[in-house]
Amino acid sequence: MAKISYVEKENAPDMVCRNISRRQFIRVVGVGGATVVVIGVLGCGEDESQSLQPQIGCFDVGSPNDYMEGDLLYFPDAPLLVGLDTAGFYAMSAICTHLGCGIGDDVNEVTAEGPILCSCTASIFSRTGDILSGPAPLSLQHYRLELVDGQLVCDTSVEVPSDTRLAVV
Ligand code: FES
Repeated sequence: MAKISYVEKENAPDMVCRNISRRQFIRVVGVGGATVVVIGVLGCGEDESQSLQPQIGCFDVGSPNDYMEGDLLYFPDAPLLVGLDTAGFYAMSAICTHLGCGIGDDVNEVTAEGPILCSCTASIFSRTGDILSGPAPLSLQHYRLELVDGQLVCDTSVEVPSDTRLAVV
């Protein structure tokens, strides 16, 4: 039976999501042993009316078995990006911290080692959401992940440090 453990630098409120939205995600396709991530942009430019707003709630982001190490999956309902690295699962906002453009919606190709691009005004984030190049002023916000009835659930009402991981063993 799977066990879960949290690797956190600070305590987050103990909260379990029970009302889960229907799962909706785009699975990234593996190519040659590496994973190609589909990352893209809404063309918001300087038009703030097209900026996305974070959705507060619990989002079903799939089974742990849906992920391979290096994956970064996009969930447009939230919108969220959920990844798996060597330390475990993590979830973060898919909204650029500059003018709020979505950074998961359309298609640019990013290799497993590649960054996340926001072509609205060319900010670049690492695959774990760290800001690498502006004008975006901040890294992507990370949110708490839980395992509920065998499914990964992201609670976007609980912000966590960017090095927080959910390890499923
Ligand atoms: S909204 Fe300007 S770089 Fe992303």
